[in-house]
Amino acid sequence: MSKNLSAISFRKGMDQNHFERMVKAAETTGTATDQETVRALSEAHLVGDAITLGAVSFYDFLKKENEGKKVFVCNGSACLCAKSQQTLQTDLTEHFKEEEIGHICCLGRCHEARAFQYQDQNYSGKSNAELKSIFNNDSDAAENADAALDQYHVESALDTPILTADFPGIDEYYAPLKKCFQAGQKDLLKELKDSKLRGRGGAGFPLHFKWDSCREAEGEIKYIVCNADEGDPGAYIDKYLMEKQPHSVLLGMIVAGWFAGAQTGVLYIRAEYPDSIRIINKAIADLKEAGMLGENIFGSDFSFDLKTIKGAGAYICGEETALLASIEGQRPEVRVRPPFPTVEGLFRKPTILNNVETFANLRAILTMGGEAFAAIGTEKSSGPKLVSLDSHFVRPGIYEVAMGTPLSVVTDDLAGGFKVPVKAIQVGGPLGGLLPVAIIEELTVDFESFSTAGFLLGHAGIVCIPENFPMIEYIEHLFQFTADESCGKCFPCRLGSVRGQELIAKARKDDNYQIDPILIHDLLDTLQQTSLCALGGGVPLPIKNALQYFEDELRPYFKS
Ligand SMILES: Cc1cc2nc3c(=O)[nH]c(=O)nc-3n(C[C@H](O)[C@H](O)[C@H](O)COP(=O)(O)O)c2cc1C
Ligand code: SF4
Repeated sequence: MSKNLSAISFRKGMDQNHFERMVKAAETTGTATDQETVRALSEAHLVGDAITLGAVSFYDFLKKENEGKKVFVCNGSACLCAKSQQTLQTDLTEHFKEEEIGHICCLGRCHEARAFQYQDQNYSGKSNAELKSIFNNDSDAAENADAALDQYHVESALDTPILTADFPGIDEYYAPLKKCFQAGQKDLLKELKDSKLRGRGGAGFPLHFKWDSCREAEGEIKYIVCNADEGDPGAYIDKYLMEKQPHSVLLGMIVAGWFAGAQTGVLYIRAEYPDSIRIINKAIADLKEAGMLGENIFGSDFSFDLKTIKGAGAYICGEETALLASIEGQRPEVRVRPPFPTVEGLFRKPTILNNVETFANLRAILTMGGEAFAAIGTEKSSGPKLVSLDSHFVRPGIYEVAMGTPLSVVTDDLAGGFKVPVKAIQVGGPLGGLLPVAIIEELTVDFESFSTAGFLLGHAGIVCIPENFPMIEYIEHLFQFTADESCGKCFPCRLGSVRGQELIAKARKDDNYQIDPILIHDLLDTLQQTSLCALGGGVPLPIKNALQYFEDELRPYFKS
């Protein structure tokens, strides 16, 4: 069934994209679920109403509950632990009715907290007086947009910055492409192998393997997809790259397109990052004007175009198969693999799908060569890595380090340590390990160090859990997050996340109730072993870490 839907979606093509129309249809009222809209969308796309309704009712910003919402308060882990959102919510009620205030997760303003979205602009760290000026429209729209742009603290610990380097202008930046095209695909494959670059989206999959698999796959039509759905609370690495280094991502996608023989590249950018969408669109327009996109790029026989697709609020769309289903206008449920996207990806055509930061590394491989790139970092985790830190650090921001750098160099030497007493950090998003701070000394920023110690580097966003933040509340937040974001395809995750949240909530509310430890461990083992993807399968890790390392604090909530 879903294969037929992919075929229908493909027939309509990228320019009349079903999902984009859904997002557009919700622009005025905040929802696309009313009968007339669903009927119109379905007729335009030649599918049944149930298919369209199944999709639109899934997304936070298209579903019925979103209707009439005017301002959205971030409820991600970093803002939660900063305890900034309760007062923000109260301050907002001076300007909005309760029913006009919605929630959003996460805006990637973790370094400032107190984050919210209003009229397609993100804000953070604003005082009550500043809120008044924003909502009273004291300044004009352009001024507002500029003032709302994220200001990052960015530091590179490399002698020569790579991912954070200054942009020299389009001509100089894209010049290495010419040489690459002249040398041919075989040469690039060798450089990619030599570079040992592994995907930065979380799994650390070798890039050359993925790219070559797509190149070898049969098919006239192929796609390059950039996963810019960075949904992990605490991570704003991809947001930084899109807003401050947009061409690094676009160049990587063009190289991928040329290597695999693809004609189209799509950046799926989450709606929570409106500035990223605007800035990437501008960079694409600049490239077109410079003649570096479109027909016969650099006089070669390679033609390639790029477009962005705006998401609609669904964490699971960061999972690659759900992301592809989303672009096709289907309900974004995780698909069983194999077949992998390199063989059956977007519209079931061969597709290279990589993370933003992964693509951003390509120019360095072209300019310095694979071996030199591999010399940065460790034997198995090569190259530079960006780490993002939340507002509990003295100098929160984006740090560029070589893979293999001690984690304490980032947290202590570069970021200046914690502003307030912190008991644990969570690295790699809500599915990443939860480490007591004493363990920071034992880890280095690379895939192996984290996995050997039983954690995950993931995308390397760091959220702090302060001493005075109850660990039981954090565990409930993790279950709640999973329950909210589960795609519902497999029942261990769909039901297990809700049951977990209920157990914790009951133990917090009812002094006479304690959780049976066997029950909670059974639940976590079931989630871990039987979920289809790493959402249901991953959330037990931080919860088990919390139960192990914070046993004393959590004892009152569990039977002995
Ligand atoms: C629940 C879930 C959420 C994910 N979210 C993201 C995401 O926001 N960004 C991302 O690049 N990868 C995410 N991934 C990983 C992707 O499925 C995929 O492995 C990755 O985009 C591949 O790119 P890479 O090889 O460059 O890492 C997620 C995976 C899961 C299971
Ligand atoms: S684990 Fe959760 S998110 Fe993943 S496929 Fe199953 S229901 Fe969907």
